[in-house]
Amino acid sequence: MAVHSLAYLVVGARDLDAWTRYAESVVGMMRTESNEKDVLLYRLDHRTFRFRIEAHDADKLLASGLECATRANWEKALANLEKAGVAVEKASAAEAKARGFHDMFRCVDPAGNPLEIGWGHIVAGTPFVSPEAVDGFVTMDGDLDMGFGHAVLPAPNIDETRAFYVDHLGFANSDEMRVYLQGGPEDPGIGMHFLHAGGPRHHVIGLAQFPNPSGMVHTMVEVATLDEVGIALDRALAAGTHISSTLGKHTNDKMVGFYMRTPAGFDIEYGYGGIRPDWNNFTPTFTIKEDLWGHKWDFGQ
Ligand SMILES: [Fe+2]
Repeated sequence: MAVHSLAYLVVGARDLDAWTRYAESVVGMMRTESNEKDVLLYRLDHRTFRFRIEAHDADKLLASGLECATRANWEKALANLEKAGVAVEKASAAEAKARGFHDMFRCVDPAGNPLEIGWGHIVAGTPFVSPEAVDGFVTMDGDLDMGFGHAVLPAPNIDETRAFYVDHLGFANSDEMRVYLQGGPEDPGIGMHFLHAGGPRHHVIGLAQFPNPSGMVHTMVEVATLDEVGIALDRALAAGTHISSTLGKHTNDKMVGFYMRTPAGFDIEYGYGGIRPDWNNFTPTFTIKEDLWGHKWDFGQ
């Protein structure tokens, strides 16, 4: 696999204070010092940051940071994209360092989702301490890096976009989903494709066959116990955060969690207990009922 995990997100914010309250008091992320003006950096684990919030004229995802395990894999991803005629922009050493990478380049997928792809991550060197006493976010499987979670990105041109991740970046299918909102035999359904990167996560990238003005449908952070999910739900309710979905369990990755709205307009899935497939003994699934139970949606505004 060229890419192996979701390293971080870069998010634009009109109101940094709203993100400060949300990230710290609701999600339980750890703020870490930034030497850049109007930039908030939030940790979820041993890394220097997992969420980078920048002052911006719009509330939206600015980039998904994908990680390659080795320099060789990163060079392969870069070569694959260049060979396919995809425009790539190499980051300077300073830009890569600011993203916690040794090397990094930028590109855009066929649906217009901005990506930053790097290798050689920097660790913080100090313990992760959550301001809300979250025991820790699940980002490692033993010594194996799982990335901080997954990102579900808008892709109205879903087939072309899936091919980009599979053909150039080494992703593979774990589940195709078709959601039938209209009902009836003529309903073509809406596609969602879930792609793994060979690591422990059932999916690192999800693609949804509809647009989203925030640039992302949702991102997932994982905690170690069901109690941590429930306690986070209590914090979200106390803070007046919009709960986009009640507690539920997904059919495909078996993750138990709820969804809540971020100040950027996309959701965070706060989950626990997702499966870690053995890809040598796994048959990709086709799902038409997305939940085993729960997940009553309130899309709000
Ligand atoms: Fe998810």
